[in-house]
Amino acid sequence: GIKGVVLIGGPYQSNQLAPFTSSQPAPLFPIAGVELIYHHIFALSQLKSITHIYLIGLYAQNQIYQFILKCRAEYKNIQFDYLYEKEEKGTAGSLYQFKSHLFGKDTESVILINGDIAHNINLQEFIDFHKTLKNSACTIGAKQKEDVEDLQKYGCIIKNEQTKQLVHYVEKPDNYVSEFLTNTGIYILSPLFSQILDNSKQIRNSSLLQMYPEHLLQKLHSPLQNNKWLSLENDVISTNISSGQIYVYEIPQQKNFFWTQVKSPIDVLRAQKYLLNTLNVNCQIWNKSYHQNWEHRQESVLIDTQSSIDQSADIGPNVVICTGVTIGKGVRIKNSIILEGSIIKDHSFISDSIIGWHSELGYWSRVEGTPNEKVTILGCGVKVGNEVSIRNCVVLKQQYLSRNYNDQYII
Ligand code: GDD
Ligand code: GTP
Repeated sequence: GIKGVVLIGGPYQSNQLAPFTSSQPAPLFPIAGVELIYHHIFALSQLKSITHIYLIGLYAQNQIYQFILKCRAEYKNIQFDYLYEKEEKGTAGSLYQFKSHLFGKDTESVILINGDIAHNINLQEFIDFHKTLKNSACTIGAKQKEDVEDLQKYGCIIKNEQTKQLVHYVEKPDNYVSEFLTNTGIYILSPLFSQILDNSKQIRNSSLLQMYPEHLLQKLHSPLQNNKWLSLENDVISTNISSGQIYVYEIPQQKNFFWTQVKSPIDVLRAQKYLLNTLNVNCQIWNKSYHQNWEHRQESVLIDTQSSIDQSADIGPNVVICTGVTIGKGVRIKNSIILEGSIIKDHSFISDSIIGWHSELGYWSRVEGTPNEKVTILGCGVKVGNEVSIRNCVVLKQQYLSRNYNDQYII
């Protein structure tokens, strides 16, 4: 069968989503009403012959376990497990560690997804393409670049147009690369990949041994020098191009195509907009028991039915209102997320913002960011006074804001 793997990283990683990640791992942040990585679970669950889905990461077991239990309850025919790494080993280091889980006898292929992306790519078509390639150990999902700057943000790929083999790969290069595709962070691996992992590991270890004596190597703390570290992009893909076993799937970009990384608050609102639009077209996901509390309105608005919203409030586009939220008269909200238990009093205005759990906005208050540039974030339990305006700010938890603030990080 097919196995799905979602790499979720760990708490050491970027905290661009602070202050929401202190109490909860970033991959569990709700986007379009469900955990970011739930969107991956849903897409994987729709594949023919998927038998297992693994999350691999460095978050403590107890932070992920509730999520695993929820997935198990919803998809009874799929086996879910969290593979916990004690230390940072890099994207391929973690695959190497759990090789026996991933590439067992019953594995036809493994579909590997970076947890910090959102997309509507048809994974079944990707798998079908991979199946037509007889000797592919790894097929990389790639897309057209959007602008030249992409090259510093993503892996850059050049393929052989006839054979679809990878001919050149550079991870986030500084220099100009002519016509390239970008790496979407979705891969299909076949059991052959296991051998490539072993080879890459050996090559890396012998080159490390040339640089450092063995007794020193055990003690090096920088993950890049550590002999357990293995980067999928730099140590595995780039170094195995000559094997001819690495292929590229250029993802067809139809009209509603979207793909985005989800690393910053801007990304969160962008991903939410795309995902809500997708839901407009395909409401299937919301019919499951898991989502029975959600009301999906037109104009990309999603409201939990356990919230109380005044009739005169004007909400949307691109707004999600989570459970237990109270919204008063004449409130206007757009391009925002209102998290559980918040209270928004009459005539307040919210745009381009994420309002944290159990926050409270007073009468006639304004909380706003700048479209496509800056998201205003209120952490958990923040109170904004009546008629107070907060623009382009990040506010950590449990603050009381009684005057106006602009462009500030408020601790
Ligand atoms: N389990 C585990 N262990 N996960 C990890 C580790 C690790 O040691 N290191 C990173 N990850 C996870 C991250 O949480 C993320 O989901 C994914 O692996 C990739 O993260 P990075 O290694 O930080 O790379 P990136 O996101 O900057 O770039 C990668 O993704 C781009 C597409 O989004 C590269 O693959 C690029 O080439 C690609 O374009
Ligand atoms: P878009 O940005 O495209 O929606 O254009 P718009 O002209 O509708 O502007 P905006 O979305 O900012 O305003 C939408 C509604 O919100 C209008 O009816 C405004 O009167 C109202 N609005 C603007 N500021 C406030 C405010 O501070 N409080 C309240 N309650 N409503 C406001």
